[in-house]
Formats: sequence, C-alpha cells, structure tokens
Amino acid sequence: MTSTIPNSNLCEYKPGLEGIPATESSVSHVDGINGILEYRGIRLEELAHKSSFLETAYLLIWGNLPSEQQLQDFQTEILYHRRIKYRIRDMMKCFPETGHPMDALQTSAAALGLFYSRRALDNPEYIRRAVVRLLAKIPTMVAAFHQMRRGNDAIQPNDDLDYAANFLYMLTERSPHPLAAKIFDVCLTLHAEHTINASTFSAMVTASTLTDPYAVVASAVGTLAGPLHGGANEEVLSMLDEIGSIENVAAYVDEKVAGKQKIMGFGHRVYKVKDPRANILQGLVEELFEKTGYDPYYKIALELEKVVEGKLGAKGIYPNVDFYSGLVYRKLGIPSDLFTPIFAIARVAGWLAHWKEQLNMNRIFRPTQVYTGGHNIPYIPMSER
Ligand code: ACO
Repeated sequence: MTSTIPNSNLCEYKPGLEGIPATESSVSHVDGINGILEYRGIRLEELAHKSSFLETAYLLIWGNLPSEQQLQDFQTEILYHRRIKYRIRDMMKCFPETGHPMDALQTSAAALGLFYSRRALDNPEYIRRAVVRLLAKIPTMVAAFHQMRRGNDAIQPNDDLDYAANFLYMLTERSPHPLAAKIFDVCLTLHAEHTINASTFSAMVTASTLTDPYAVVASAVGTLAGPLHGGANEEVLSMLDEIGSIENVAAYVDEKVAGKQKIMGFGHRVYKVKDPRANILQGLVEELFEKTGYDPYYKIALELEKVVEGKLGAKGIYPNVDFYSGLVYRKLGIPSDLFTPIFAIARVAGWLAHWKEQLNMNRIFRPTQVYTGGHNIPYIPMSER
C-alpha cells in the first residue's frame, strides 16, 4: 500500500518506510539478493573467522581496524569498566524477578545516564568513555539481573576472562569451555551490526535530539525487544518445542501458511536468500553439536528449513539470523529469555557506531505524514455525547 503526500517532493508513502533511505552511512552494507553483509566494507565471514567481538566493535565504532596497541588499550579499558555501581545493583534488586530481562536491561541502561550525566557530545573524550562504559557494563547488567531474579547476588566480573568468557562466567559462576566462549564471541560478532534496522533507526532518531548515549541505547533496547525484531529467536525454540518431532513439521507449516501466520526465524525485509548470518550460525551449531552431542531440536529445525524453503522459497522466505542462534544459545545452557538481551549486548556496538555517525552529520529526524482524519469537526459538549 502506498499513497501520495500532498505538498511534498516525495510522492509515495511506504508503510514501514520500506526501501526509503533514512540516512547516509558507511558503517555496514547488506546485499539482500546475494546474501552479503559487510562491516565497514569487510565481509562478515572474514570477521567471524579472523576477528573477535571487541575488535569488530572497535572497527564499527571508530571506522578502522585497531593496531595491536589500540586493541589492547580498548580491551583493557573495557575490562576496567565492567563493574557496575552498587546503587545500580540495588536498583536492580527491586525489579520483579518475573519481569522480562529486556525490560530490566532497558531500565538499567537508561539509569546509567543518572550516574554519568555530564553530557558533552562535542568532547571526544566523553564520546570515548561513553562507548567504553556501554560496551563494558551492558553484559554485567544482563548477568546481574539473571542472578538476582534467582535470589543470588550478582557475580562480579572475572579479570582473568575475556569479554565473551566473562559474560558466560557471570551467568553461571563457572569458567566456560574455551570452545563455548569462542563460539559465543562469534555469535556476538554476527549480531553486532545490520544497517538501518528498527532498533538502529530508533537509536538514530533518539540520537538526533542530542540526548545522552545512555538514552540512545535504552530506546534501542526497547525497540529490539519486540518479537518481529530481536525477540524472534526466543520464539523459534518455543516453535520447535511445539512442533515436537520431524513428522509434525509439514502439517505445522501447512497450518501456518493456510492461516497466513508467520513462521518464526524466517523471512527478512532485506534478505531474499538465506541470511549469511544464519549460514555461519548453522556451521557453529554443527561444530558445537559434534563436540558436545546433538540437540533433538536440530533435526526438526533442518526439516523445517527444507519444508519452508519448498513452500515459501519463491517468495524469498528463508532462515534469518534468529533461526539458528537459539539452538547455539540453548546448547551453551543459556535460558531462552536471555537470547534477546544477548542480541542487545552485541548490537550495542552497531548502535554506538550509528550514534557517532549521526552526531557527525546531525539533523533532527522530523518526517511528515499522510493525514487521514477530518477537518473543522465541531466540538461536542460533554452533555451531548
Ligand atoms: N513466515 C511465513 N510467511 C512469511 C514470513 C514468515 N516468517 N515472513 C514473511 N512472510 C510472507 C508474508 O506473509 C507476505 O506474504 P504475502 O505477500 O503473500 O502477503 C510476504 O512474505 C512479505 O511479508 P512481510 O510481512 O510484508 O515482510 P516484512 O518485510 O514486512 O517482514 C519480517 C519481515 C518482520 C522479518 C517477517 O518476515 C517476519 O515477521 N518474520 C518472522 C519473525 C522473525 O523471524 N523476525 C526476525 C527478523 S531478523 C531480525 O530482526 C534480527
């Protein structure tokens, strides 16, 4: 559905702004027809195999790969800032344990603005510190809420562990197997950035008002929480559970297609082929399962991919990033309601890259609309309604 906009050079309204450029950006590029994703011009496959999440975050945010010294300094600073203030922990203790971890994360991310409130967006040192604090503290806050909702104290970051391993440690109080930590780090790299998706757009709109970066990240977290965006991988596992066995897959797909319902983990606004991130994740799933044993859901997932491809492939409906990520996280022992917060831990890198880019060429977002209401409607007094 499209319609014309009166008194405007733009002639069409497109629901969901599909295909409408919202900005110019050099952060990342998606080729949805050929299934290619590049961060700062570098193919995702290369980064997934050769880089680490923090190096990739540096690349996204500062625009170039760091030297050895720059990377070491960045990692050391992030390690130093991983702790969160006891007042933030005290605030989090008051959150209901039944609350969703994304709501807890959004609230905690916004609360950082109370503690680091001196906004100085024209000061490069302020920008650098905000970047470090957000990358460092978001994983700690996710893990702290998870411990607290189970009645435990938050586990302090372990200075001997790197970014990914430390997060898994704070969740479980056990140092993870190096393969688990490595795979988790690659998952973070895969989720770090993806052009102007809904949460990044939300971050950019908030950034364009020149508010503080903690508000920028908090608004993006709120947007990521929805089931059509970051929340889908949680739903993929419920779906695999509901399907229950390979024999039920075809009937499940038929029922969804007949009822015009979405099958979670499939479809993408940009990709009309299999999401390149899904391909890499599937490889990781295989590697993990070969070492630690297969998950019964995996066979169902493979059959589902085959059946959906047969029925909906012509429409460009293929697995997206969320289809296999849930299986990896489940194998790593991560509860399903933490899948989207983990997505946020990774995507903070992309949000911050776009925040910085927005500040460098800022104009406040103020789109227009197609008004569909009436005019000159008389006010009806209360007594006559
Ligand atoms: N299952 C079945 N059919 C689908 C699916 C799906 N998952 N996704 C799209 N379609 C169909 C639609 O029914 C529609 O068919 P029609 O033209 O016959 O009416 C057509 O494909 C286009 O679908 P839209 O909803 O218009 O596509 P849009 O680009 O708006 O939506 C979205 C993309 C939201 C991702 C959608 O595919 C979806 O809801 N998928 C399931 C949720 C999901 O996995 N989200 C994660 C996305 S990745 C991420 O955000 C990190």
